[in-house]
Formats: sequence, C-alpha cells, structure tokens
Amino acid sequence: MTNNLLKGKKGVIFGALDEQSIAWKVVERCHEEGAGLVLTNAPVAMRFGAINKLAEKVGAPIFPADATSTEDLENLFKNATEHFGGKIDFVLHSIGMSINVRKKKEYTDLNYEWMQKSFDISAISFHRVMQTLWKQDAMNEWGSIAALTYIAAQRVFPDYSEMAESKALLESFARSFGYHFGTHKKVRVNTVSQSPTMTTAGSGVKGFHEFFNYADKMSPLGNASAEDCANYCVFLFSDYSRMVTMQNLYHDGGFSTMGMNPAVFGL
Ligand SMILES: NC(=O)c1ccc[n+]([C@@H]2O[C@H](COP(=O)([O-])OP(=O)(O)OC[C@H]3O[C@@H](n4cnc5c(N)ncnc54)[C@H](O)[C@@H]3O)[C@@H](O)[C@H]2O)c1
Repeated sequence: MTNNLLKGKKGVIFGALDEQSIAWKVVERCHEEGAGLVLTNAPVAMRFGAINKLAEKVGAPIFPADATSTEDLENLFKNATEHFGGKIDFVLHSIGMSINVRKKKEYTDLNYEWMQKSFDISAISFHRVMQTLWKQDAMNEWGSIAALTYIAAQRVFPDYSEMAESKALLESFARSFGYHFGTHKKVRVNTVSQSPTMTTAGSGVKGFHEFFNYADKMSPLGNASAEDCANYCVFLFSDYSRMVTMQNLYHDGGFSTMGMNPAVFGL
C-alpha cells in the first residue's frame, strides 16, 4: 500500500536490528511511501548482519554510528546529507538499552555506572542527535524528528526499572529541544509512546510476555503492533502533522486512558 505520503522526503532511521525491530517496519513503510533513506545502528549491531538485508531491499546506505559518540553522529549526518545531496526531512530515534535490566539487577540495587550508560544510550543520545543536527544545520524547514518511548515514564511499571527514568528524560528532551528547533528552524520534535511490542529490547524486560497479554486485554483496541507504529511514524514524517510538536503521543490502543477493563478478568 502506498499513498506517496513521503515522496521527495529524505530520512535517517536509527535502530533497525532485526525484522522484529520497530525501526525495521518504519524503514519498510517509509520506503513504500516514497522516502529516500539512510539507515544507521551501533557498530556492534552490524555484526548481526540483518540490517544489510533491509538496506538492500530499500536501496539505502548504512552509516554505522554509536549514538553515544558525538564524532560518530557528526560523521553520520555529514555522510547522510552528502548522500541525499541536501538536508534531511525526518529522523527516527529508535534506541533503547539498559544494562541493569539486561543483568537483571533489582530496582533497589542498581549499579549507577550502568545506569549512567543506560541514560546515555537511551535518552542523552536523543539530545546528542538533535544537537548534532542543529550544529550542522542539517534539517530542512518543516522537518520532523521523533523518538520512541513508553508509558513507564508517567506510571509505575516495576519491571521496566531504570528505563522508566530514561524515557522520562527522553520525553523531556523532546519538549525542550522542540522549543529551539520549532522557533529557529520550523522543525517539530515528538515522542511516540508505543504499546508493548515483541522485539529484542521489549522481550528483555522481566515478565514481558505476561505483561504484553495484560496490556492487550486492557486496551480497547488491543496492543498497537510494530506495523501500526510504522504507519503512525509515516504520518508524523508527512506534511499532515506539520503543526504537531513537543508532544508525547500515545500510540497504544487506548491503554493510557484506561483504569480497569473487565476483559482483564475474563469478564
Ligand atoms: N518493544 C517494546 O515493547 C517497546 C515499547 C515502547 C517503546 N519501545 C522503544 O522502541 C525503541 C526501539 O526498540 P525495539 O523494541 O524496536 O527493540 P530493538 O532491540 O529492535 O531496537 C533497539 C535498538 O537500539 C540500538 N542501540 C542500542 N545501543 C545503541 C547505541 N549505543 N547506538 C546506536 N543504537 C543503539 C540497537 O542496536 C537496536 O537496534 C526503543 O527506544 C524502545 O525503548 C519499545
């Protein structure tokens, strides 16, 4: 299906690791909608090799970049604008990782060095991406920048651990940088708060499968899939959302507004 919503637009997409990745679906949908793309991921992610398959499919180059390295990001956006022969219209930040979660540390016994690393990878990287784009003046006017987040930034989901604080920080960066990017460059910045989704990052959270089913029952529309999220990102990168900025947008089948759903108890 295509409506050419992104025809003539050029975008950089972070975070496609494998076919389950939300970013993977976003790449496929943006390509179908006519966008020119550059793909990027951490140099270590290149070892898995799957991203090469995706790049080939959509005819996009891959410029690896560790999102915690300013130098890598500078090279990435320099290469991207050279490749496009002009500025960038949209950027997706789809990056998340917590060492404490991965090592199954309890929330009451977190390792602070790992916590700093988690914040650096999952949240500060978003500021770093935007600051690099800003300094290089690499975004076109009326461009769109988005990052993926989760409702644990607002409500308590114990097993999400320090990723809750990572997401709170990420969402705050979207608002604060959204002011600067909007005022000076007419670029919008938003976060998309997505339903639980079966991916490498998602399944790393303790009890994820049970929680996935709970959220599915709690949400009147059920969980939003990665494909649904990709469609929503297409909208955010298209001209139809040009006046939406500095928002945390729930894309969760209604979960965030529910208090109780009898379906959870099988009623
Ligand atoms: N899966 C879910 O349930 C869910 C729900 C809401 C939001 N999200 C968010 O969606 C985003 C994408 O996650 P996903 O679920 O598709 O999982 P994923 O594991 O497929 O994607 C995470 C990506 O982050 C990349 N990454 C990690 N460290 C990096 C670094 N230093 N530099 C550059 N990239 C790095 C990984 O290589 C990977 O591609 C994350 O921000 C995640 O928190 C996921």
